[in-house]
Amino acid sequence: MMRTYHIETFGCQMNEHDSEGIAGVLAGLGLFPSASAQDADVIVLNTCSVREKPHRKVFARLADYRALKAERPGRLIVVAGCMAQLIPEGIREAAPHVDLLVGPRSYPELETALRRKLEGDLQLATLLGRCEPDLQPLPYQRQDAVRAWVDIMYGCDNHCAYCVVPLARGPEVSRRSEAIEQEVVDLATAGVVEVTLLGQNVNSYGRGLTPPMGFPDLLARLDGVAGLRRIRFTTSHPKDLSARLIEAMARLSTVCEHLHLPVQAGSDRVLERMGRGHTAGEYLARLQRARDAVPGLAITTDVMVGFPGETRRDFDETLALFRAARFDQAFMFRYSDRPGTRATAMADRVSEDEKQERFVELAQLQNRIAREINDERVGEVFEVLVEGPDAKDPKKARGRTRQNKLMIFPAEGAPADQFVHVRAQEARLWGWLGERQSSQDAKLRGEAKDR
Ligand code: SAH
Ligand code: SF4
Ligand code: F3S
Repeated sequence: MMRTYHIETFGCQMNEHDSEGIAGVLAGLGLFPSASAQDADVIVLNTCSVREKPHRKVFARLADYRALKAERPGRLIVVAGCMAQLIPEGIREAAPHVDLLVGPRSYPELETALRRKLEGDLQLATLLGRCEPDLQPLPYQRQDAVRAWVDIMYGCDNHCAYCVVPLARGPEVSRRSEAIEQEVVDLATAGVVEVTLLGQNVNSYGRGLTPPMGFPDLLARLDGVAGLRRIRFTTSHPKDLSARLIEAMARLSTVCEHLHLPVQAGSDRVLERMGRGHTAGEYLARLQRARDAVPGLAITTDVMVGFPGETRRDFDETLALFRAARFDQAFMFRYSDRPGTRATAMADRVSEDEKQERFVELAQLQNRIAREINDERVGEVFEVLVEGPDAKDPKKARGRTRQNKLMIFPAEGAPADQFVHVRAQEARLWGWLGERQSSQDAKLRGEAKDR
């Protein structure tokens, strides 16, 4: 009989990528994907702990799955990801029907564990150790033919005062550059043209490796991989954004003109309490250096409102920083207490109402800035990697520029996974509506042959 699995993923790109690995493990065991959890023999929730909201969703799902488990007791319910690592007891208590808990640094052991569970082993229930990931790479089952995520490091050593990621993912470990390069070569040989290098703090890549190697060196190595056209990376930490990295971004033609550089707050007092290791002035100075070196660079950020002790005056400094920095896009969050982090014990809590007001005020400012930036670039022609038809209008195609902006344009003659040139015609918050420039595509094909 054909057995099936269903995976639901919460959280960051790292989790999305891990889910590709979990899918590969399940496929290797002979299971097929199913459209819904109801039909699946193995249900996996790949969870996130970074804020409270995804937590609540996971607990709601687990409550729903109680009936599914009762209806078919042989069905396996697996909780993977950061919640499994951080609150295994809490999950067990709320959901005794969970069969297996597996933390992010245990995925190399997942195949053996799942095989045992599928054979009826009732004893095995938790995998929360720390494996050496390179020794047993996951059989990633990638959804996309031309775009791929590649892990370059695991964990984080920064311990920002609000953040559970280091607790969930463990200390920072870099993968060997040979293993990364081999993976990227294999991907490019299989037709991948765009890779996104993943790590919580990619700028510190290589710490602890012998011989020593930095992130700019890794970029230079990957820039030479035949067939690869675009390199993206996330996340960069401002304190480790070196002049060498900026120089590498400017020099290496595959490295895209996009930098995701979380700022978190605009007040030095709040940044200090967060433990970010830089001031607002230093952040802006690095931003300027990067913009001077890389023409057309798009900058995106993460920001939080309502960190403990954030006064109205501190928040005004965040608004001021946003006016000065002029981000292309900002991911905004209301601070939420995470168990085990330093910030939970900090005084001067900001009320939920106040957080909401600050959130709305900052979002309004940012939306205006994003629109202005996109307005300024109307008329320019962008290289776009086509993703496929637009969900709202199948006659339109959508794709991304090197700056990671969305472009929507008439689909005709623009097949998915191809590079095309599109002129930006009308600005939106997220990018542009555009028009194809077929004559420039021919030139692009010529350039591609030269490479
Ligand atoms: N490693 C990345 C981001 C990891 S988490 C970095 O250093 O930037 C992604 C984002 O979630 C963070 O940038 C932060 O803005 C937000 N975040 C993390 N912990 C949070 C918390 N306790 N409450 C609200 N937002 C949080
Ligand atoms: Fe969390 Fe800070 Fe590490 Fe980012 S750098 S994962 S915010 S501790
Ligand atoms: Fe969430 Fe873990 Fe990513 S806590 S943001 S899934 S590293």
